[in-house]
Amino acid sequence: MAIRHLLQLEGMEPAAVQEILELAMRFKADVLTADRCKRHELAGRAIMNCFFEPSTRTKTSFELAGKYLGADVVNFQTRGSSLEKGETLEDTARTLEAMAIDVLVIRHQVSGIPERLAARVKVPVINAGDGFHEHPTQGLLDLLTVYEEWGHIAGLHLVIVGDILHSRVARSDLWGFLALGAHVTLVGPPQLLPRDWERPGLRVTASLKSALAEADVIQVLRIQKERQSLVGLPSWEEYRARWGITRDVLGSLREHTLIMHPGPQNRGVEIDSEVISGRTSKIAQQVTNGVAVRMAVLTWVLGGPYDR
Ligand code: CP
Repeated sequence: MAIRHLLQLEGMEPAAVQEILELAMRFKADVLTADRCKRHELAGRAIMNCFFEPSTRTKTSFELAGKYLGADVVNFQTRGSSLEKGETLEDTARTLEAMAIDVLVIRHQVSGIPERLAARVKVPVINAGDGFHEHPTQGLLDLLTVYEEWGHIAGLHLVIVGDILHSRVARSDLWGFLALGAHVTLVGPPQLLPRDWERPGLRVTASLKSALAEADVIQVLRIQKERQSLVGLPSWEEYRARWGITRDVLGSLREHTLIMHPGPQNRGVEIDSEVISGRTSKIAQQVTNGVAVRMAVLTWVLGGPYDR
């Protein structure tokens, strides 16, 4: 049987996306509620978390997800590993594989690294975010959050605001929401917008006002301060004035419009504190759903779901 990896949402069958979301909802109901029930889907399995970039949400939620389902989870420490002695990433991955692991979870600053490793090992590889490419489990948890609130994805209007060009979250959200029939608008400073992404259901604009008029859901992206000098961005004050989701912008939205942010947030730059803690903010729910989705994805790549 072919190995099931999760490398990207681009090209993923809508039925597979639905299967993962349904499994995530089952796990959430069983494991992440007040009467938490321990499950054993992954008992006897070993998961290797390899994060070559900083992470709070993704790394921790993969670890919790594996443990909630009975797996052994190891966080590979890149610092102090034989990578520092010149061992290649491929050899490191093969070395970890030889320790009888069942799943390799990888975050890396270079786009395409998870796919490259997937071609070289015989265990499922899960992309936990690679360069500017994709962050598929973030896309899935965003879908789950919107589905829980609306009961459907098809026909909704998602607006993604910020540094679209450098955002792996924007790409995974785009592919996931389009696959399930949503409309997507990408908005941000012109120099941070893609030029060649024309496809049905997608609109690209620099005008926040026009984008927000029909928004059912707004995903606010982190402005990556480390890139400002590279792309000649406006000052933070100008960014906030033109593309920030401020308290005033919140007041102008339709009542039902949901606010999401993948985190971490730059408060007072791309989003105001009042918006983060506002009535329509689903940011904490996104974090919780990250655990549910990662339980589902770990089970799915290993051939589940199982009804035990
Ligand atoms: N959203 C996200 O990927 O957050 P972390 O970098 O904290 O994992």
